[in-house]
Amino acid sequence: MKAIVAESAAAGGPDQAPSPLPLRQIALPMPELRPHDLLLRVEAVAVNPVDAKVRAALAADAAPRVLGWDAAGIVEAVGPAVSHFRPGDAVMAAGDITRPGCNAQWLAVDERITGRRPRCSSWAEAAALPLTGLTAWEALFERLGLDAEGGDAGRSLLIIGGAGGVGSLAIQLARHAGLLVIATASRPESAAWARELGADHVLDHSRQLAPQLAGLGLESVDRIANFADTDTYWDTMAELIRPQGSIVAIVGNRGPLDLDKLKSKSASFHWEFMFTRPRYGTPDLARQGDILEELADLIEVGALRTTLRSELGTITAPNLERAHALVASGRTIGKIALSGWD
Ligand SMILES: NC(=O)c1ccc[n+]([C@@H]2O[C@H](COP(=O)([O-])OP(=O)(O)OC[C@H]3O[C@@H](n4cnc5c(N)ncnc54)[C@H](OP(=O)(O)O)[C@@H]3O)[C@@H](O)[C@H]2O)c1
Repeated sequence: MKAIVAESAAAGGPDQAPSPLPLRQIALPMPELRPHDLLLRVEAVAVNPVDAKVRAALAADAAPRVLGWDAAGIVEAVGPAVSHFRPGDAVMAAGDITRPGCNAQWLAVDERITGRRPRCSSWAEAAALPLTGLTAWEALFERLGLDAEGGDAGRSLLIIGGAGGVGSLAIQLARHAGLLVIATASRPESAAWARELGADHVLDHSRQLAPQLAGLGLESVDRIANFADTDTYWDTMAELIRPQGSIVAIVGNRGPLDLDKLKSKSASFHWEFMFTRPRYGTPDLARQGDILEELADLIEVGALRTTLRSELGTITAPNLERAHALVASGRTIGKIALSGWD
């Protein structure tokens, strides 16, 4: 099968390999199925910052690594323990960071972390949903414990990094749950996108957040979801969270974090890592499949809209290089996807 990999051979071998390693198309054997696996014919993939992070961490002499953890495709074959899907089904999945990614014609993915493709979504739109959808859902409704069904309506949520892939879905999910959504964006176009998705208020994260929040008549917020840099916003989050409030972050810290800053408020801090369930094979692994089905429901009834903003053509090494460069800029709005094979 065709696969796009990061590897040093593309640059003439480990001695001359630049960092990050270049992407190139090679031929790989078909993936082998585990009992719960689906064999997907990959129709579209989306690109996420994690692709660039895994790529950047590869050693110059690393074996070729298939990147990409956001795919939509057709089930072609199933493992012996599969019960929810059958050949011909159209599905979407983020997959498992410990396994080869989806930048290949075929992907083996556990059915328990797979959901149906929303009936109204294109392949590219479906590929743009799983990784950021799971992250946003788990962050809001599991780590922060908010009620997806509206039981927390009226509570305030500050979303730091509202216009990125994760923020674009979190804004919509939070609004659907009835929360008061205050999102951050630093440019006119990203602020407009955050408002379009349903943010009640947009603050500019290139300026101090506290005075802007005060300008809305708020001294603090009930919950904070940080989808940008954890270190940069640590003190600000400690200042803005209300007593007994909760904070979730998704980006690993670069330096030590002073947890004591949350003590006087009895505020709680949570990590969200979308790959925790597949990586550790947790007993509730299938919850991710359920969340993907719930996201598909919301798309199909029009309660969620696609966050796909940019399609970069077919799944080729040069097009993936362009997508990686855009994602690395840290300034993309919504999601980037590629679909079809040359
Ligand atoms: N733990 C997990 O499971 C998990 C899952 C997904 C993503 N992540 C990580 O979370 C981060 C966000 O992912 P993503 O897919 O949403 O990224 P993304 O789509 O690349 O985010 C781009 C957005 O980030 C905003 N941004 C840039 N600098 C910012 C800053 N200093 N403060 C606030 N916002 C800023 C930009 O907004 P403006 O243009 O308005 O400045 C831009 O719209 C990445 O580091 C990613 O690796 C973690």
